[in-house]
Amino acid sequence: PGTPYLRVTPSMLKKMTGRKGKDAWIVLGGRVYNITPYLPFHPGGEPELLRGAGRDGTRLFGEIHPWVNYEGMLAACLVGIYVPEEEGGD
Ligand code: HEM
Repeated sequence: PGTPYLRVTPSMLKKMTGRKGKDAWIVLGGRVYNITPYLPFHPGGEPELLRGAGRDGTRLFGEIHPWVNYEGMLAACLVGIYVPEEEGGD
């Protein structure tokens, strides 16, 4: 059996800003990643990385550094896939 990845809706995602004791999640290319462990290591700094937290950061990421291999770097941080609200699990 495969890993039971979450199906993440927009309402779930928008809470995951890295504030109020919550982890920071980002959507990149339709997949949801927990970027909390990577925050201290981001070459552009924590505040910059947090600009993409709690939302779909695909376009922002691509405007800044499209050459960065986020799929490889964040493979262990994969939370699940991003789905429309009505397809959510809760
Ligand atoms: C560098 C912003 C997400 C990995 C940078 C820099 C900025 C930035 C401004 C340039 C720092 C400098 O040269 O002084 C952002 C923003 C993000 C984001 C706004 C939100 C979408 C990510 C993610 C990853 C990542 C998700 C990896 C999983 C890197 C790497 C560099 C970098 C590796 C160095 C790239 C190089 O020098 O070629 N970022 N970043 N960033 N960021 Fe991000």
